[in-house]
This record gives sequence, C-alpha cells and structure tokens, in this order.
Amino acid sequence: METDDSTFESYFANPPEGLDMSLLDRSRVPRHISCIMDGNGRWAVARGMSRGEGHKAGIVSLREIITACVRLDVEVLSAYAFSTENWKRPQAEVNLLMHLFAQTFIEELPLLKRENVRVVFLGDISALPDQTREVFEYGLNACADHTGMVLALAVNYGARAELARAARLLAKKVAEGKLAPDDIDEDAVSGALYTAGLPDPELVIRTSGEFRLSNYLLWQSAYSEFYITDTYWPDFNRWELVSAIIAFQHRDRRFGGLGTGKAARDDA
Ligand code: FPP
Repeated sequence: METDDSTFESYFANPPEGLDMSLLDRSRVPRHISCIMDGNGRWAVARGMSRGEGHKAGIVSLREIITACVRLDVEVLSAYAFSTENWKRPQAEVNLLMHLFAQTFIEELPLLKRENVRVVFLGDISALPDQTREVFEYGLNACADHTGMVLALAVNYGARAELARAARLLAKKVAEGKLAPDDIDEDAVSGALYTAGLPDPELVIRTSGEFRLSNYLLWQSAYSEFYITDTYWPDFNRWELVSAIIAFQHRDRRFGGLGTGKAARDDA
C-alpha cells in the first residue's frame, strides 16, 4: 500500500524512540536551513563500499531532506554539493560526481515539480562539464516558475571566490558610473552574491563531526547557528533534521545584543 506523506503529520508520523516531536515549535522553524553534506566517502568505506556508492546514498538523503523541509515550510534549503576545492579530488571521482549531479537533477525534476521547489545554483556552473551544465540549465528553466521552497545547490562554489566576484561586479558598476563607492554598503555586497534575494541561513548543519566552514557561505553565515552532528550525511534523515531544529530553537540568538536569555535577564 502506498503511504501518503503529503502532509507534515503523515511525513513526521512515527518518530524514533527518544525524539519528542512536541518539542518542535512549527512557528519558529528557520527560514533558511543550510547543509554541509559531509561524510559520504567515510560512510561508504565503513561499509566496504566505493566512495561513489557513498555519494549515491548521499543523494537519497538529500531527497529526504528536501521533502522534510517542504513539509516544515522552510523557505530556503541550501546544500554544499561541490566546492571550488573539490576539483582536486581524483579525476574519476570528479567525473562520477558530475555525472551523478546531472542524472540526479533529471531524475528529481518530478519531485521538484510535485513539491513546487525552485532551484538556484550558488557557484560558477559555467565552468562545469558540458553535459552537467546543460542539464542544470534545462532543469533551472523547467522549475523557474515554481513558487514554493527554494533549493539552493552550491556547485563549484567557494565563498572567497564568491566575494571576489561580488567585488568585481561592484567595481564594474562603479567604473560604469552606475554606483558611487560610498554606496557600497552591506546590502550592496549581499546583492552581489550568488544568494542575492535569499534570506541568510539561520541554521547551518554540518554532518560527520567536522567543525569547519570549509569556504562555505562566509558572509551569509555571520549570525548563523551551527549544528554539528557525528552522523555521516547518508544517515542524516528527517528525524535528525527535526533534532537540529529543536536544538536551534533552544539557542539564545543575540546578534551582538543581549537577546532574551540569561545575559539579558541579568541585566534587566
Ligand atoms: C561530501 O562527502 C559530499 C560531496 C562532495 C558530494 C555531496 C553531493 C550530493 C549528496 C548530491 C548533490 C546533488 C545534486 C543534484 C547537486 P565526502 O566525499 O567529502 O565524504 P568524506 O569526507 O567522508 O570523504
């Protein structure tokens, strides 16, 4: 029998023992959740499988997290799929990833359509192999009119390269007389990034226990809360996502001020 997972209630029915779903405040789910999907290779090696199998399993997890975020009414889900540094991996792994990206994007178009998900790419996709780039461009068009959650896929992305590109874009506008140097403020920089128009990530999740940002969303994550889990990405699922959101909802976010927690109360 087909199970209906089209609602929050059905998708999050039967949580594992130890997870109390009543702790989740659905009115305070982060608008933008970002995932550094790490540990595919180690997940595979631990099972005597190839790293490629790990990436395939990672794609299954990404699919689950996309659906979970839609059910949670998240506005933006971003995911770090391939960094500007990942080109240094063995050519065979790079080729496989590029092939998997293209294949996955085509295969997931029905899901993106059903769930009304719009895709944007963060990073320079013009430098990708032709087949992958063409599939991405086709897919972008196919879901351009979707009005639901934004899925921001970081592919050939590096935050420093993104900031250098933003500086170039702004400098060109200045050279063309379209922008005064004194008008280059934080909004102008934000507007020149790949994430222009998207809210900053409130919650950044990194799997596989590494405490690093790895050149990811340096500007945008200035005030993000971080959730690090030892779980490898292929084992990261809807329940661990809910745990991350519950943990986020218990953080005292102060943005440099006193916030609402102990520090603020002591001062009152
Ligand atoms: C990190 O694991 C993961 C990646 C480099 C690739 C992640 C990509 C996906 C899950 C698919 C994205 C899909 C699309 C359509 C863009 P790792 O290899 O660094 O793991 P390790 O640290 O254990 O070696």
